[in-house]
Amino acid sequence: MSDDATGRGLSRNLTSYGDRDFSVYLRRSFAASMGYSRQALDRPIVGIANSASGFNNCHRHFPELIEAVKRGVLMGGGLPVEFPTISLGEVFLNPTSLKFRNLMAMDTEEMIRAQPMDAVVLVGGCDKTVPAQLMGAASADLPAVQLVAGPMMTSRHGTERLGACTDCRRFWAKYRAGEISAGQIAEIEARLATTAGTCAVMGTASTMACIAETLGMALPGTAAIPAVHADRLRAAEASGLAAARMIDNPIRPSQVITERSVENALRVLLALGGSTNAVIHLTAIAGRLGIRIPLARLNQLSDETPVLVNLKPVGQHYMEDFFFAGGVGAVLRELRPLLHLDTLTVTGETLGERLARDPGWVDRSVIASAEAPLEPRGGLVALFGNLAPRGAILKRSAADPRLFEHEGRAVVFSSLDDLARRVDDPELDIGPDDIMVLQNAGPRSESGMPEAGYLPIPRKLAARGVKDMIRISDARMSGTAFGTIVLHVAPEAAIGGPLALVRTGDRIRLSVREKRLDLLVDEAELARRRAEWTSTVIPPERRRGYDRLYAEHVLQADEGCDFGFLLPPA
Ligand code: FES
Repeated sequence: MSDDATGRGLSRNLTSYGDRDFSVYLRRSFAASMGYSRQALDRPIVGIANSASGFNNCHRHFPELIEAVKRGVLMGGGLPVEFPTISLGEVFLNPTSLKFRNLMAMDTEEMIRAQPMDAVVLVGGCDKTVPAQLMGAASADLPAVQLVAGPMMTSRHGTERLGACTDCRRFWAKYRAGEISAGQIAEIEARLATTAGTCAVMGTASTMACIAETLGMALPGTAAIPAVHADRLRAAEASGLAAARMIDNPIRPSQVITERSVENALRVLLALGGSTNAVIHLTAIAGRLGIRIPLARLNQLSDETPVLVNLKPVGQHYMEDFFFAGGVGAVLRELRPLLHLDTLTVTGETLGERLARDPGWVDRSVIASAEAPLEPRGGLVALFGNLAPRGAILKRSAADPRLFEHEGRAVVFSSLDDLARRVDDPELDIGPDDIMVLQNAGPRSESGMPEAGYLPIPRKLAARGVKDMIRISDARMSGTAFGTIVLHVAPEAAIGGPLALVRTGDRIRLSVREKRLDLLVDEAELARRRAEWTSTVIPPERRRGYDRLYAEHVLQADEGCDFGFLLPPA
């Protein structure tokens, strides 16, 4: 960081010409060309990181939201200056948005660091954007407030309520099973996502919004406000004001994101029955400040933290119901005895102080009490064993308990292409008790760890009414999906992890009770297969640009899939 980072407003982070006064003079002159008065340019600056894009439906209301942020900054005596970063629209990116999360984090960090601003409001929402912004802000360590997009409203199809994207999958599964027609699926396609905002269920975006609020980086009460609700605009105004207030009383991300607030966030993730992706993202955010999240610790917290929130994909309701039921505040109140109450929020308040002034409203049909939870233990569990020495994740709250203790025959797909080619082949040798295994879909694979872990039930089994099977991969799963799906197997197949050694016909044993995932093949045979294994991935030296940077530096799932060089020096 240059010495100029200690300056204020426009004279912060000066362009280097070897003459400081000239740099200030030139910058003021060029800024004045945008119509600013000298009085405006003398104010401290709050940057507004805008991740809107024509390729991001979830952020389509950002112009209005950012106007409200600007109003708040002006009320606090600052000058609001909006700047663009890249945007990651979940369904618009190939091969998968996760591959670009670190690119957006680098963009966010470097633009916060390089441009003249004293504080920043991060405006994001769609799955990878909030983690990217928090990772970047943690590394830049300038006072920052996270403002999220807010969830979409639900829609209707006949008498049924629809919300992206659990219902996208539910109806697609019905279509695959021949239960609904091509005409009906086309009608549903037009009704699944009808307003601005992020997916309407407790998927990755909503989980990360709740995590941002629990960490203390977003204002209290703001995570669940629907995107189109007037309160969302008031939250934007308040976020701008809070950022402006932090200029004279700086609270840095490193004071907010601590081991204790990260543990609170993990508790909330578990109580929400939140997205498996959030484990990767929270690990990456915490990692930027040197905080580790061992998966064994996740299991300890999971055993002590009840599931409280009855939202899809696990439960019944949608994000708008969660908002009206009391939102994150109501969940935090229930978890109070388990939380660290001395953690700081960007308002300067501690979590304990926030809860002391909490209004106390809750709708018990959506948010259960700690005394009568939906499940006594958390929604996520980490599995270890010879198939996942560094761990794997199962969302047990979204899985079929009848499969929790199961031994079955492996049916292996060596890649996503292999899966697409064979899964619906009527000749595929597979039964409902078999275990589907997908290899080469982890972070180092060419596919960049897509949300492909929700392997489709083979069409011939789906047509027989099979709704769930054990599916194992080094891929991820959408936060809106459900099933007995083991994900994030580490180390992954593409670097020769044990997953690469599985063959069709092997026996695999899953035990949720023992938190184990084992390949029942003797060690001598595994050693023989290991000696024969060769990588199918294109090596980094035959790639270029960001693809090469990614291939050289991406870490495994248990390390948050960040780039090693973005972690703080040891
Ligand atoms: Fe943006 Fe689901 S597509 S949150």
